[in-house]
Amino acid sequence: MEHQNLDDLRSSLLGQVADAADLEALEQARVRILGKKGQVTQLMKTLGGLTPEERKERGQAYNRIKDAVAEAIEARRQDLADADLEQRLAAERIDVSLPARPDRVGHVHPISRTVEELVAIFGEMGFGVAEGPHVEDDFHNFTALNIPEEHPARQEQDTFYLPPQEESGAPMVLRTHTSPVQIRTMQSVAPPIRIIVPGRTFRSDSDATHSPMFHQVEGLVVDETTHMGHLKGTLIEFCRAFFDIEDLPVRFRPSYFPFTEPSAEVDIGCTRADGQLKIGHGDDWLEILGCGMVHPKVLENCGIDSRKYQGFAFGMGIERVAMLKYGIPDLRTFYDSDLRWLKHYGFLPLETPSLVRGI
Ligand code: PHE
Repeated sequence: MEHQNLDDLRSSLLGQVADAADLEALEQARVRILGKKGQVTQLMKTLGGLTPEERKERGQAYNRIKDAVAEAIEARRQDLADADLEQRLAAERIDVSLPARPDRVGHVHPISRTVEELVAIFGEMGFGVAEGPHVEDDFHNFTALNIPEEHPARQEQDTFYLPPQEESGAPMVLRTHTSPVQIRTMQSVAPPIRIIVPGRTFRSDSDATHSPMFHQVEGLVVDETTHMGHLKGTLIEFCRAFFDIEDLPVRFRPSYFPFTEPSAEVDIGCTRADGQLKIGHGDDWLEILGCGMVHPKVLENCGIDSRKYQGFAFGMGIERVAMLKYGIPDLRTFYDSDLRWLKHYGFLPLETPSLVRGI
């Protein structure tokens, strides 16, 4: 082949490489030129028919072309890969400063939100979360909690009884409070115990301030040293954190529960000026929860030595505190599943409550 022809060949081959528009076309060009039946490979095969001098010279010339083409292919491959990456980076670009659109996944119900807040506050104080069944037996809901047979809480107007399963056994009930989970916990784990129990409860009662299904949160601490001072400190701290009022007045008023002794009800300060309830400093009080030192009989009913162990318990209506905190006027609306209501009173799912970011 003439010198001129070799130069033409070289530029024609390099031109083919340069023309490859994408990685696939480039691979096709490589096969066409350097593959088993490729142009350069075919040329190499013609060397056999030449004289040794010619073969040497031609062979070197072909090899130079082959190397140049191989190099050009590699360079082109790199360029195409870079361009490909650039294009993908541009196409898949995400603006991380754009706000998320949590609206699409709906809103968190105020009850769920309030439970999250309770878990955040008490979690910070070292409480774990426990749960128990909605359908309870008489022992856990009443007897073990020192609620005697004749106690009004046992009477049919309050309690939902289930049809008896066996003729002899007492009927099961829908739990009327979360307190049976105190019993279940004390029966299954040894002190020290420090739990809260958020959950559903049921009473046969229905009006603007009562729903047959509502939520409570129970608290229980049992160990060797916890006393009334801890009960007061814990609940005062809780009220102030929950309502986010640092100096919220909190009052403990003597009361009665069969399962605690002594017992108290907790009031927080408020004003009721112009028919408007406002939580905080004022001349009025609002009851928000019941509490007391765990009755020794309740500890004994669970096989815990009441001379060695003691502790406190409390119970609170979740709807009630949610209504107070978020200004929700009617209890019944919690369960209407009205999307407009949920949108108004619900919470964005990404705004999970925490003590650092706000409750
Ligand atoms: N179980 C009580 C109720 O439903 C609340 C409570 C719980 C009171 C624990 C004291 C201690 O009213």
